[in-house]
Amino acid sequence: MLKLAAKTSATSSYNMKKQYLIHIRQNGSTLFSCSSVHRTLLDSLEAHKVPVAFQCRSGYCGACRLLLLSGQVKYHQEPLAFIANREILPCCCLPLDDIELEV
Ligand code: FES
Repeated sequence: MLKLAAKTSATSSYNMKKQYLIHIRQNGSTLFSCSSVHRTLLDSLEAHKVPVAFQCRSGYCGACRLLLLSGQVKYHQEPLAFIANREILPCCCLPLDDIELEV
């Protein structure tokens, strides 16, 4: 069973030192997201040369939206852009556990 969720509550419960795995479905690659180095999931993807479209980098425009196939993310603050069920905005969130994305 898939576990999907996009949390938007405060970041107090987030373990800022833990590394999480990011699985990219299209090419089967696995990356590390490290919150002590990368402020957002988009930063992690860019550090690993995963091409993701973006504009505002603040949760306003929705240009960076990706499909979250499994796992959970936590937003720094509630994004303003509309996102459908299972979509996330990597410019303003971090993984809460290992995740799988469709980029
Ligand atoms: S880049 Fe604008 S919402 Fe992510």
